[in-house]
Amino acid sequence: MIILALETSCDETSAAILENKKVLSNVTISQILEQQKYGGVMPSLAAKLHVKNIQKVLKETLHVAKVSPEQIDYIAYTEKPGLIICLQIGKIVAETLALFLNKPLLLVNHLEGHIYASLLEKNEEWEFPALALIISGGHTQMYQVNNHFDFILLGETCDDAIGECLDKSAILLGYNYPGGPAIEKLAQTGKNTYQLPFPKNDETLDFSFSGLKSEISRLVGKEKKEINVNNLACSIQYLLAEILAKKLKKAWLTVWAKTVIIGGGVIANKFLRNYLAKNIQKWDKKIKIFFPEIRYSTDNAAMIGVLAYYKTKNKKSERQG
Ligand code: KG4
Ligand code: ZN
Repeated sequence: MIILALETSCDETSAAILENKKVLSNVTISQILEQQKYGGVMPSLAAKLHVKNIQKVLKETLHVAKVSPEQIDYIAYTEKPGLIICLQIGKIVAETLALFLNKPLLLVNHLEGHIYASLLEKNEEWEFPALALIISGGHTQMYQVNNHFDFILLGETCDDAIGECLDKSAILLGYNYPGGPAIEKLAQTGKNTYQLPFPKNDETLDFSFSGLKSEISRLVGKEKKEINVNNLACSIQYLLAEILAKKLKKAWLTVWAKTVIIGGGVIANKFLRNYLAKNIQKWDKKIKIFFPEIRYSTDNAAMIGVLAYYKTKNKKSERQG
């Protein structure tokens, strides 16, 4: 089965071709450089750049995969959530292609895509019940996953998303958007020396990150000259890892999950990956841990394609059942 997938929900224009779970091509044009001067993503600029780049990524993805449009069986695109004017560009392109090529359309949820990214090019499958954590620039959520496409929201952030916290903190420290990679790099030569407050250290499965950003703003304002940026970045990263590990464990104890899945741009962070993997192993060695490969952690169309693949498989099993 050949799937063409499109992703345009935020600041990456991406097109991928998959043969089942195998990625034949995944071409992404990022808008990071153009968006940097706004310190985040400006929706009107994002839409303008998607319009400029979508043909290029489509052409290139077909070329790399050595697939002709007639060979495509399904066309998938990110339906939601995301910036509405950006999502509409993917929708219009996908609908037009589906109409002219006479192929079925599959509408995909971006957040579920981040979870399914962990199944790309893997032979192993999730075991249910599973616990899924999404840590991205726009979302921080935990789900109980009882089966494919059976998600129950367990907890989420009450204010900023974790990636947003990293992005805003990095700007306060004088670095560019996106803040996650900048903080990861600074932290490599830093030590965990700053005592930062642990937000929402309570019994709930919800998160809060806006207070942390305020504390960093306060520190930067008060001690600008004395701040050791590497140590502060390392302390931020360490605290975020502790928060995630603590809330994940709480959720795991309610779900008794056989699999823990972590997706979203923030899991591109190698320190967080190692910290969380080591922690989860301590709860029970039998737990299967699923991360996407680093290149499929931030926004990309391959994750939309693999979710579309599971959707078609699920439809077939519904028909057979
Ligand atoms: O999933 P994503 O690409 O877009 C959304 O759906 O939001 O996530 C983007 C977020 C940004 O906040 C970015 O700073 C963060 O992921 N990020 C990282 C790293 N790479 C990207 N955070 C920590 N460490 C990284 N290496
Ligand atoms: Zn995303």
